[in-house]
Amino acid sequence: MTDVARTAVVTGASGFVATELVSQLLHKGYTVRATVRSVKNAEKTAHLQALGQVFSGKLDLYEADLLKEGSFDDVVKGAYYVFHTASPFQIGVEDPENDLVKPAKEGTLNVLKSVAKSKDTIKRVVLTSSFAAMVKMEKGPADGKLYRDTDWNDESKADKEGGYLYSKTVAEKLAWEFCKEHGIDLVTINPTAVFGPVISQRGDATSVKQIKGIIEHTASYVSPWVCDLEDVGRAHVLAAEVPKAHGRYLVTWPKLMNGKEVIGVLAKRFPQYKFPEDVPESESKEYADVSKLEKELGMTITPWQTSFIDMATSLIAHGVAKPVQA
Ligand SMILES: NC(=O)c1ccc[n+]([C@@H]2O[C@H](COP(=O)([O-])OP(=O)(O)OC[C@H]3O[C@@H](n4cnc5c(N)ncnc54)[C@H](OP(=O)(O)O)[C@@H]3O)[C@@H](O)[C@H]2O)c1
Repeated sequence: MTDVARTAVVTGASGFVATELVSQLLHKGYTVRATVRSVKNAEKTAHLQALGQVFSGKLDLYEADLLKEGSFDDVVKGAYYVFHTASPFQIGVEDPENDLVKPAKEGTLNVLKSVAKSKDTIKRVVLTSSFAAMVKMEKGPADGKLYRDTDWNDESKADKEGGYLYSKTVAEKLAWEFCKEHGIDLVTINPTAVFGPVISQRGDATSVKQIKGIIEHTASYVSPWVCDLEDVGRAHVLAAEVPKAHGRYLVTWPKLMNGKEVIGVLAKRFPQYKFPEDVPESESKEYADVSKLEKELGMTITPWQTSFIDMATSLIAHGVAKPVQA
């Protein structure tokens, strides 16, 4: 019989962040119920099926859609932890209201409504929110502000530019309201742009596209704020397991990225390949306070160099990104 306290649900399990979380939970001995939109979609689920073969009997795939009420009832029934990561992550979409805000809000509400029906076993919900729900973009990243877990994004709107940031902000707010009203223990993880070693061969996640673009010379944008994929997975697991964990946890490398330095690190690791040169130099100053994460969850932030090198190495190894010879 499955031990309820070792049973975790991960929504949107086929995604970039969630796959790492599923893997970490399996390595820790959890039985994982992973939701995907279609079990039959091999392109999106092959890596989960492979993990299921390694951790035999420990990973079950369930079908669920954010936009279908009741879709998550079966999967959360009798579970102990629920990790809600599923939410569309795309920048610059034409119809942000329908493509981002609606699934983020309705999805969060649908998952939490299902949790409310199974409160007898569910100990805690960990929501994958984002730094997008904290950042104030109007002044830009380098305005001297030190971000911390109490910050809220009160600027973004449901337009082409800010649609994703807005969707994460309203979905997180909704989650706090619903959980307060229904007595559900909620913790949120708020990562900046996530980079690290990929497990799947999918190339469609926004984080993957950014590094793939740098490797293939089709883009040269480097996020000003970044964090490590394995740290994000670890933060989710600890946010569930550590009894005193509460509120929001900003996960990030605490200094702003200097794009030139990022390219320099990749070029040094892969001298046989060419990398874009048109990357602006910028000041790498401190902008975030991660002491809550360090003190309460006992975490140490992985240096950004590791995240970028691991991600590039895995994307090249999986054939997701094709490097340009020097
Ligand atoms: N990557 C980052 O830099 C970053 C930073 C901060 C926060 N986050 C958050 O982390 C979470 C995962 O993002 P990611 O980077 O891993 O992106 P991703 O790979 O695109 O994953 C998004 C996941 O959401 C699922 N999803 C989207 N619409 C859905 C729907 N209608 N019904 C069911 N599932 C749906 C996707 O399903 P399919 O697999 O079927 O497409 C996918 O599994 C999101 O909540 C995102 O906001 C990401």
